[in-house]
Amino acid sequence: MQNRLGKTLVIATHNAGKLREISALLAPHGVECLSAGMLGLPEPAETGKTFAENALIKARAAAEASQIPALADDSGLCVAALNGRPGVYTADWAGRQWFEGEMGRDWYMAMGKVEGLLCELGPDVDRSAWFSCVLALAWPDGDSAVYEGRVDGSLTWPPRGKLGFGYDPVFVPNGSTLTFAEIDAQEKHRISHRADAFAKLVADQFGPIS
Ligand code: IMP
Repeated sequence: MQNRLGKTLVIATHNAGKLREISALLAPHGVECLSAGMLGLPEPAETGKTFAENALIKARAAAEASQIPALADDSGLCVAALNGRPGVYTADWAGRQWFEGEMGRDWYMAMGKVEGLLCELGPDVDRSAWFSCVLALAWPDGDSAVYEGRVDGSLTWPPRGKLGFGYDPVFVPNGSTLTFAEIDAQEKHRISHRADAFAKLVADQFGPIS
């Protein structure tokens, strides 16, 4: 398949960490990444009801404003017994709080909220859950492509481990006894929802990895 991405891609994020991670993944394919933050592009409201809708909103806004192909991601935790919640509201379930002079998310509160809802459903509740990640590519001519990645697992309580971020301390991927916060970054990046979505994007845009 033809490589439609060209040499430059705008990453529709204002998060320096995400830009670093995505740039490193695309560098071997000769793609230089700029961020929406670096270009001073506005952040659109994430009003979608699905990860794909939100990723497309962000990618299309960046491609239109910059006239350069753009990539956006949206991700979150889905809990089977909660009908897929918190889903696109994953970040919102962690209220904002001041910590060491910076405004951050309270992930312990968010994990506690999920656990509280599971407990209300009784001791035999299905604890299965998955992380989803959708990557959306958008071109200035209006074309787009979407790649969905997923990692299945179950939720444990209390939280364990200090690595990772967000809901990692309560998520045990299938086939492991450790939480994502107890698994080193290299291993997590091998099996994660983000890795799965990226593998699909790379295979589609740059051909199968030999
Ligand atoms: P967003 O895609 O940056 O909007 O992130 C949504 C939220 O999902 C994050 O703030 C995290 O709380 C959660 N999330 C996404 N991926 C992961 C992960 O790999 N581990 C833990 N939490 C995650």
